[in-house]
Amino acid sequence: KINMKSTSLTNTMPTIGVFDSGLGGLTILKQLQQDFPRNKFLYCGDTAHLPYGTKSQESIEKFSSNMVNFLISKGADIIIVACHSASSVAIDYLNTNFSIPIIEVITPSINSAIEETKTNQICVIGTHTTINSKTYSNKIKSINNDLIVHEINCPLFVPIVEEGLENHNISYMTTKLYLESINSLGVDTLILGCTHYPILIDMINRVIDNNIFIVDTGVSVSKDLKNIIGINSQSNNCMPKHEYYVSDMPYRFHELASKFLDQKVGDVRCVEFK
Ligand code: DGL
Repeated sequence: KINMKSTSLTNTMPTIGVFDSGLGGLTILKQLQQDFPRNKFLYCGDTAHLPYGTKSQESIEKFSSNMVNFLISKGADIIIVACHSASSVAIDYLNTNFSIPIIEVITPSINSAIEETKTNQICVIGTHTTINSKTYSNKIKSINNDLIVHEINCPLFVPIVEEGLENHNISYMTTKLYLESINSLGVDTLILGCTHYPILIDMINRVIDNNIFIVDTGVSVSKDLKNIIGINSQSNNCMPKHEYYVSDMPYRFHELASKFLDQKVGDVRCVEFK
């Protein structure tokens, strides 16, 4: 069941709903909380259905719209789809069925990459869902057909990060396997098209040439959000109390959540999104 809500962002201090397939979206939330310290954030991680990176479009559309409904019911005025897989395959469905403003992570990342590239060769890495959808390359090409886009599936990166192996030799070998080839392509800009990949940034930097610029999705999304809601300078005496929801309490939740958010996530509630 889909809940319709009128678009207007009349609230001068909008509540921002952020959702992801799991906890990786906390890498984006971290940046947003830093840049919008007065706004209240609601975070949903669909840990019961993780990973989205191997699932069908139909399932991801259904899971994503359940989270948007839930976030609206909790008071969200604007939604950030922090998950690249959901942004790749579910954004049209969400925009058709909800009138609340929804920001996905792909367009902002692309805008930053296009601003940056000089060789006109961009590499995008992501999950099977994201890469197979060709959403990144289609969007980049629709902006400038002269740009060359290299897309690489990196399916082992998510489990490596979830297992805490980002500094292990296995991570180095996998990064080499996936990314070494881009050094000879003329690529000068790399989009980390997955929530988990910023955790691998040191390893990625070890493997790719140091003249390749890495797009930070969190920073790009934050810029877009600023354009929509502005930076509110009103003084707000009480600190916003953020809310965190997951659809399953996974094994090693706190360890993973604090890895992505860089601080402890307090007061998490486990609920069914519908
Ligand atoms: N959040 C997903 C993404 O950004 C990665 C994890 C998953 O496969 O669900 O694509």
